[in-house]
Amino acid sequence: MSVSSSFQSVLDRIATEIAATPGRGRPADYIPVLASADPQRFGMAVAEVDGTVYGVGDWQHPFSTQSITKVFTLALCLSREGEELWEHVGREPSGNPFNSLVQLEYEAGIPRNPFINAGALVVTDRLQALTGTAADTLRTFLRAESGNAGLDFNEQVATSEASHSDRNAALAHFMASYGNIRTPVPLLLDQYIRQCSLDASCADLARAAGFLARHGILADGSSLLTRSQAKQINAVMLTCGTYDAAGDFAHRVGLPGKSGVGGGIIAVVPGRCTICVWSPGLDERGNSVAGVAALDRFTTLTGLSVF
Ligand code: DON
Repeated sequence: MSVSSSFQSVLDRIATEIAATPGRGRPADYIPVLASADPQRFGMAVAEVDGTVYGVGDWQHPFSTQSITKVFTLALCLSREGEELWEHVGREPSGNPFNSLVQLEYEAGIPRNPFINAGALVVTDRLQALTGTAADTLRTFLRAESGNAGLDFNEQVATSEASHSDRNAALAHFMASYGNIRTPVPLLLDQYIRQCSLDASCADLARAAGFLARHGILADGSSLLTRSQAKQINAVMLTCGTYDAAGDFAHRVGLPGKSGVGGGIIAVVPGRCTICVWSPGLDERGNSVAGVAALDRFTTLTGLSVF
């Protein structure tokens, strides 16, 4: 049996194994709407490069995408401004929590990578300067690539995030003092919060990330990124996509991946498929416990890995 025809049976097997595994971590609790998520929920989808999707469990249930959106804003920004972007944000693992401030001062306002909050704020700032409407640009892109015209912001999440944004505001103001943020900070925070508030399902995100498995080519066959840019994004996902757990994630899963505090993780098998898994219980570093376990099983059972 080919790997693709067995994707469905692999997903079914993983869901059964995960259901039998106790200990799911805790949902993010910094805003009530995320804290109320049920840690027993679990969904997983695989999208082949031709757009064929397989799924199991809650794979069509929308969840809060949060930091997973940082991959898409990075792609939209890199496609528009190219190498210039890397003068404003680095591509080294930070080894620190995603919302940490400590490195910024001794590294002169240049964040370590685009996936910690500081780096994501720089990317959203640049996308805002390039498009005038970063969050809407992202929503339009995700709708087109997922094929889900109803994909939208979650106003309840956005409102709640807005009243818990002191740390992101501090990061943005601090970087503005180095000239690395140009959008007025309140407008930038509004765009970043809207970006993170997008709801989408595993099916939506597996499809929408397909260009990363197709070396930069979008669902309609047009090109978003050069092959080299797609490689750059996959590389930074592998080294920085799960924050201070990126080494452990690479060790267990062996694929570029990006997590969010909503409990979702996307992963890429270049040339082959994209995967999205969701389960809201997180470990202490902000990654979905069942999600990482499911991806670990996926690469073990299929033998698919970048290594
Ligand atoms: O910036 C924040 O705090 C959130 N809106 C997004 C954080 C997030 O998903 C980090 N990832 N694990």
